[in-house]
Amino acid sequence: MSEIHVVSKDNRQLYQDYFDPYFRLRYDIYVKQRKWMALDRPDGREIDQFDTDEAVYLFCLDGGRLIGGMRAVPTVMPTLMSEIFPYLNIREPIQRPDVYELSRIFVIPERRGEHAGPRIDLLLLTAIMEYGISTGLTGFSIVLESWWLPRFERCGWKAHPLGVPQMIDGMSVLAVLVDCDEATWASLCGQVGLRKPVLTWRGLAGVNRRALPDLWSPAPRAVQPAQSPVHGAGDCAT
Ligand code: COA
Repeated sequence: MSEIHVVSKDNRQLYQDYFDPYFRLRYDIYVKQRKWMALDRPDGREIDQFDTDEAVYLFCLDGGRLIGGMRAVPTVMPTLMSEIFPYLNIREPIQRPDVYELSRIFVIPERRGEHAGPRIDLLLLTAIMEYGISTGLTGFSIVLESWWLPRFERCGWKAHPLGVPQMIDGMSVLAVLVDCDEATWASLCGQVGLRKPVLTWRGLAGVNRRALPDLWSPAPRAVQPAQSPVHGAGDCAT
């Protein structure tokens, strides 16, 4: 089963061995495969100015192997939207402690699409929603390609456009603000088949967060009258 680990400056030392492969994977995916050449670097790692101490990463690990990831950056810090693509947001700039900017979501090629187990991309979307509601976030800002919109719609992510799509390097790109709420998380858990929170918070006991409840707990059995004329002893209440 894939595990999704929260990695921040507070527990980064526990995941030190993963960072070099992580940045190399990002290089393979974004520079070599997607050909986002603005991200090219001679050292074969894709690292940008938003990979700071304040960035939070979700690492999806399977048998100790990194198979997917996502990055969340507080919007009170510089973000892709504020620094590189400010023209995509025609509303108020987003600089709020309750909103993080998401970027660099990826799944390694051999784990994309449907395979044995829940889809990794959906698992990541579920996990980041869990991270958000656990830590008191109300939204995620994202600069994304417009092909994400129907995917978000299908899985129940509520994305509000902050401007109109623009063509950038041959891609249709726009800025959105996505609601981070418990109902969306619960619905995603249902789609992925999760009955309880999925995140691993190793080394983060000191982080202020709300523990989320398990989902789909079996409903308590109703107490039946001793001599019920209708129900037998083995009947379940619904
Ligand atoms: N352009 C247009 N549509 C794309 C796309 C792209 N570059 N990448 C994925 N899609 C859409 C397609 O509709 C595709 O449907 P199809 O199977 O009918 O072609 C669908 O997403 C499924 O994508 P797939 O790649 O099979 O895998 P997935 O759903 O498991 O994972 C990603 C989706 C985005 C996580 C994965 O494709 C990935 O890691 N891509 C590279 C990293 C990336 O581009 N991330 C987004 C920007 S940060």
